[in-house]
Amino acid sequence: MRHLTSIFLLAITATLLAQNPHGPALKIDCATCHSPEGWAIAAEAWRQEERVVPGEAQRFSHTQTDFPLTGKHGIVDCRDCHSSLVFEEAQTGCINCHTDLHQQTVGTDCARCHSTEHWLVDGISELHFENGFPLLGNHAVADCRDCHTSETSVRFDRIGNDCINCHFDAYQATTMPDHEAAGYSTDCWICHDVASPGWLWTGGAGTHSFFPLTKGHAINECTACHIGGDFTNTPNDCFACHQADFQATTSPDHEAGGFPTDCTVCHNTDPGWPATDFTQHDDLYFPIFSGKHNGEWNECTDCHTTAGDFKAFSCIDCHEHDDPGDLADEHNEVSDYTYSSQACYACHPKGN
Ligand code: HEC
Ligand code: HEC
Ligand code: HEC
Ligand code: HEC
Ligand code: HEC
Ligand code: HEC
Ligand code: HEC
Ligand code: HEC
Ligand code: HEC
Ligand code: HEC
Ligand code: HEC
Ligand code: HEC
Ligand code: HEC
Repeated sequence: MRHLTSIFLLAITATLLAQNPHGPALKIDCATCHSPEGWAIAAEAWRQEERVVPGEAQRFSHTQTDFPLTGKHGIVDCRDCHSSLVFEEAQTGCINCHTDLHQQTVGTDCARCHSTEHWLVDGISELHFENGFPLLGNHAVADCRDCHTSETSVRFDRIGNDCINCHFDAYQATTMPDHEAAGYSTDCWICHDVASPGWLWTGGAGTHSFFPLTKGHAINECTACHIGGDFTNTPNDCFACHQADFQATTSPDHEAGGFPTDCTVCHNTDPGWPATDFTQHDDLYFPIFSGKHNGEWNECTDCHTTAGDFKAFSCIDCHEHDDPGDLADEHNEVSDYTYSSQACYACHPKGN
C-alpha cells in the first residue's frame, strides 16, 4: 500500500510540475490565481490595482511577495516586470529595470533620490546640503543648468564645492581690484558672501581684521582709504593718511609743539582725537604724570578749564581757592607774589 501511494503521489507531483511554468520555487497556492475554468487569465486582470484575478476564490496580492507594489508600480502590467512566468526571476533593484539616465554620475542607488511615485526629486535643497553645498542666496535662485553644465540635463558630473571651480572666469576678469595681481585667495567667501547681491565685499570686523574698521574708521566708503578703488598698497601708517589733520591742529598745535608724527603715541582711533596717553606733557609743559601733581588730578579739565583751549589753565581752582590768605602766608618772603594762575606757573613751572 505504502509503495502504491508513493507511486500515486509521485505521479500527481510530476503532472503538476509538468503543468507549472512558474518554476519549482513558487510557494503560493495555484488556486490563488487560477480558477478551475482554465489556466488562462483574462487580460484585464493584469492591470487591476488590487491584483484580483477573476473568480470567487482567486485573490493574489503582491504584498505576499518580497516586493510590494508601491506608487506607480501598483498600476503596472505584471508582464512589464515579469518577462517570464518564473516570477522569482524578477530583480528588485530599481536599476535592474530602469535605465540610468544619469549615466553613472550619481551612483546606482536610485532610491536615495527617487521613490516609485514619480521621477521628480523633492529634496533638492537637502541633497545639496548633504553634499556640503547648501543652495543659499544667489545660488538658490540660480538655474540647475548654470552649475550642472554637462551634456544632458540629468548628468550630474562632479563639480566640486570650491568657489573657484565655478567662478574662475569672474576672478580673472576683476579689475577693481585686480584679484589675481593682488594675489587674493580663491576662497571667495573670505571676502564675499553668496547671500549678498553681486560681488560686494562683505566687510565686517572679521574680514578687515588686519586693519579694523571700527570707531573713527567705521567708514562705509571704501574709497576714503582705498583711493580710486585701489585696494593694494594702502598705507597703514596713521601719518600717511592724517598728515593734513596733524598740520591743521591748533589745540594743541602739534607741529609747533614738535609732537611725534606717530599718532599712536597719544591717540587711538577714538573719534574726535582725544589723547589716550600724553606723558609728553611733563617735559613739554608741566609735570602731571610725575612730580607733586601725579595722581592729584582726575580730568585734563581740572587745569584746562576752558573747553578746547589747552593754552588756558587754572592753578587756583585747587590751590587755596577758599582761603587765598593761606597762600599769601606761604609767600610772605616772596616779594613779587600775586594770586593768579599765570603767576603761580611762572614761579613754579615744574609744580614744585
Ligand atoms: C501569483 C499568481 C499565480 C500563481 C500562484 C500561479 N500561477 Fe500559473 N499563471 C499565472 C499567470 C499570470 C499566468 C499567465 C496567464 C495567461 O497568460 O493567460 C499563468 C499561467 C499558467 C499556466 C499556463 C501556461 C501557459 O503557457 O499558458 C499554467 C499551466 C500555470 N500557470 C500553472 C500554474 C500552477 C500549476 C500553479 C501552482 C503551482 C500556478 N500556475 C500558480 C499566475 C499564477
Ligand atoms: C513593478 C514590477 C512588478 C510588477 C508590476 C509585478 N511584479 Fe511580481 N514581482 C516583482 C519583483 C521585483 C518580485 C520579487 C522577486 C524576488 O522576490 O526576488 C516579484 C515577485 C512576484 C512573485 C513571487 C515570486 C517568488 O517566487 O517569490 C509573484 C508570484 C509575482 N511577483 C507575481 C506577479 C503578478 C501576478 C503580477 C501582476 C498581477 C506582478 N507580479 C506584478 C516585480 C513586479
Ligand atoms: C522589476 C522591475 C522594476 C523594478 C525593480 C523597479 N521598477 Fe519602477 N517600474 C517598472 C516598470 C515596468 C514600470 C512601468 C514602465 C515605466 O514607466 O518605466 C515602472 C514604473 C516606475 C515609475 C513610474 C514612472 C512614470 O513615468 O510614471 C517610477 C517612478 C518607478 N518605476 C520608480 C522605481 C524605483 C524608485 C524603483 C526602485 C525602488 C523601481 N522603480 C524598481 C519596473 C520596475
Ligand atoms: C543623487 C540623486 C539622484 C540619484 C541617486 C538618481 N537620480 Fe534620477 N534624477 C535626479 C534628479 C535631480 C532628476 C531630475 C528631476 C528633477 O529635476 O526633479 C532625476 C531624474 C530622473 C529621471 C527622469 C528624467 C527625465 O528626463 O524626466 C529618471 C528616469 C531617473 N532620474 C532615473 C534614475 C535612476 C534609474 C537612478 C538610479 C540608477 C537615478 N535616477 C538615481 C536625481 C537622482
Ligand atoms: C549654484 C550651483 C548649483 C545649483 C544652482 C544647483 N546645483 Fe546641484 N550641485 C551643486 C554642487 C556644488 C553639488 C555637489 C556635488 C558636486 O561637487 O558636484 C551639487 C550636487 C547635485 C546632485 C548630486 C548629488 C549627489 O549626492 O550625488 C544633484 C542630483 C544635483 N546637484 C541636482 C541639482 C538640481 C536638480 C538643481 C536645480 C534644481 C541643482 N542641482 C542646482 C551645485 C549646484
Ligand atoms: C557649482 C558652481 C558654483 C560654486 C561651487 C560656487 N558658485 Fe557662486 N554662483 C554660481 C552660479 C551659477 C551663480 C549665478 C550665476 C552667476 O552669477 O554666475 C553664482 C553666483 C554667485 C554670486 C553672485 C554673483 C553675481 O554676479 O551676482 C556670488 C557672490 C557667489 N556666487 C559666491 C560664491 C562663493 C563665495 C562660493 C564659494 C563658497 C561660490 N559662489 C561657489 C555657481 C557656483
Ligand atoms: C581678500 C579679499 C577678497 C577675496 C579673497 C576675493 N575678493 Fe573679490 N573683491 C574684493 C574686494 C575688496 C572687491 C571690491 C568690492 C567693493 O568695491 O565693494 C571685490 C570685488 C569683486 C568683483 C567685482 C569687481 C570687479 O572688478 O569685477 C568680483 C567679480 C569679484 N570680487 C570676484 C571674486 C571671486 C570670484 C573671488 C574668489 C575666486 C574673489 N572675488 C575673492 C576682495 C576679495
Ligand atoms: C580707514 C581706512 C580704511 C577703510 C575705510 C577701508 N580700508 Fe581696506 N584697508 C585699509 C588698510 C590700511 C589696508 C592695508 C592693511 C595692511 O596691509 O596692513 C587695507 C586693506 C584692504 C584689503 C586687503 C588688500 C590686500 O592687498 O590684501 C582689502 C581687500 C580691503 N582693504 C578692502 C576694503 C573694503 C572693501 C573697504 C570698504 C568696505 C575697505 N577696505 C575700507 C584701510 C581701510
Ligand atoms: C605727544 C602726543 C600727541 C601726538 C603724538 C599726536 N597728538 Fe594729536 N593730540 C594730542 C593731544 C593732547 C590732543 C588734545 C586731546 C584732547 O582734546 O583731549 C590732540 C588732538 C588732536 C587733534 C584734535 C585737535 C585739533 O586741534 O584739531 C587732532 C586732529 C590730532 N590730535 C591729530 C593728530 C595726528 C594726525 C597725529 C599723528 C600724525 C597726532 N595727533 C599725534 C596729542 C598728540
Ligand atoms: C589708509 C588711510 C588711513 C590710515 C592709515 C589711518 N586712517 Fe584714520 N581715518 C582715515 C579716514 C579716511 C578717516 C575718516 C575721515 C576723517 O575723519 O579724516 C579716518 C578717521 C580717523 C579718526 C576719526 C577722526 C574724527 O574726526 O573723529 C581717527 C581718530 C583716526 N582716523 C585715527 C587714526 C589713527 C590713530 C591711525 C593710525 C593707527 C589712523 N587713523 C590710520 C584714514 C586712515
Ligand atoms: C595740573 C594741571 C594740568 C593738568 C591736569 C593738565 N595740564 Fe595740560 N598744561 C598745564 C600747563 C600748566 C600747561 C602749560 C600752558 C602753557 O604753556 O600755556 C599745559 C599745557 C598743555 C598743552 C599745550 C597747550 C599749547 O597749545 O601750548 C596741552 C595740549 C595740554 N596741556 C594737554 C593736556 C591734556 C590732554 C591733559 C590731560 C591728559 C592735561 N593737559 C592735563 C597743566 C595741566
Ligand atoms: C587738581 C588740583 C590742582 C591743580 C589744578 C594744581 N595743583 Fe598744585 N598741588 C595740588 C596738590 C593736591 C598738591 C599737594 C601735593 C603734595 O603735597 O604732595 C599740589 C602741590 C603744589 C605745589 C607744592 C609742591 C611742593 O613741593 O610741596 C606747587 C608749587 C604747586 N602745586 C603748583 C601748582 C601750579 C603752578 C599749578 C597750576 C599750573 C597747580 N599747582 C595746579 C593740586 C593741584
Ligand atoms: C614770584 C614768585 C611766586 C609766585 C607768583 C608764586 N609762588 Fe609759590 N612760592 C614761591 C617761593 C619762592 C616759595 C617758597 C619756596 C620754598 O620755601 O621752598 C613758594 C612756596 C609755595 C608753596 C609752598 C611749598 C612748600 O614746599 O610748602 C606753594 C604750595 C606755592 N608756593 C604755591 C603757589 C601758588 C598756588 C601760587 C599761585 C597762586 C604761587 N605759589 C605763586 C614763589 C612764588
